[in-house]
Amino acid sequence: MIILGIESSCDDTSASIVKDGREILSNIISSQIDLHARFGGVVPEVASRKHVELINPVINEAISKANICFTDIDGIAVTNRPGLLGALLIGVTAAKSLSAALDVPLVGIHHLQGHIAANFLINPNFGFPFITLVVSGGHTDLILVRSHDDYEILGRTRDDAAGEAFDKSARILELGYPGGPVIDRIAKEGNPKAIHFPRAKLDDTLDFSFSGLKTAVIRFYKEQGNKHSMADIAASFQDAVVDMLVQTTLKAVEATGINRIAIAGGVAANSRLQQQMKEKSAKRGIEFSCPPPILCTDNAAMIACAGYYTIKSGKLIPKEIDTIASQPISG
Ligand code: KG4
Ligand code: ZN
Repeated sequence: MIILGIESSCDDTSASIVKDGREILSNIISSQIDLHARFGGVVPEVASRKHVELINPVINEAISKANICFTDIDGIAVTNRPGLLGALLIGVTAAKSLSAALDVPLVGIHHLQGHIAANFLINPNFGFPFITLVVSGGHTDLILVRSHDDYEILGRTRDDAAGEAFDKSARILELGYPGGPVIDRIAKEGNPKAIHFPRAKLDDTLDFSFSGLKTAVIRFYKEQGNKHSMADIAASFQDAVVDMLVQTTLKAVEATGINRIAIAGGVAANSRLQQQMKEKSAKRGIEFSCPPPILCTDNAAMIACAGYYTIKSGKLIPKEIDTIASQPISG
């Protein structure tokens, strides 16, 4: 089954062709980062206009790179929620038009379901149930996944998302946007134990909080920034975020008795998070899955993969799909 995936929920315009939910024939990602960097974050109106320009060329490139014709497509999957409404609309409109023209099924995919599905691209036989940590620019959720369409949120951030913590701290440290990749890179040269930043401990819950850490970074940088190398500050900040993410995920494993962890979302590309999760999981005999960095950040292959499982399930697919700015993955 050949699925065309389309993703335009934020600042990446992406189209991908995936065969049988696992073989990526093409995955074209046109990032708008350079365009938004000078504003220090994504400007929704600018993003929408850029998606309009890019959507058709990106889809055409996905088709030609995959070496297929439009008529080979068996179904279309598009991110329709949550995200920037104007940005989502561009992908959804393109998907609707193509599905009508080609007379193939169209499925609307929840963006986080897509991120989680990235794990099935590399690990199609990863078993259910599993605990997944979804960490992106807008979300930090611990989710119990029972099947391809059964999700239960066990915990979430009470303030900033993990990606936001990276982006905001990078701005405070004058490192530019987006903060995650730059902090990850600089931290490689630093000592993660040089400075002890606070870790929020929310007893009796599987929730997260990153706003205290952000305040600590602001105060530290103002008062003692010149006494430490940027590499040590970045590494110590990253250590605090990763520590909170890993400890709470392990707490979820303990609480549920489910011995399988997958991580997903842009922050899952973080090298220290991947390494710490891998190491701690191996020590405890926990099965661990993590997509390669290119499939962690926004891309359409993960959407095509999620669409494959939705179409394959044979469940009735609604004829009309709505574009929704905000909606939890479950409940
Ligand atoms: O999933 P994503 O591409 O878009 C959203 O759905 O939000 O995630 C983007 C976020 C940004 O906050 C970015 O700074 C962060 O992921 N990110 C990283 C890394 N690469 C991207 N954070 C930490 N380490 C990285 N290597
Ligand atoms: Zn995302």
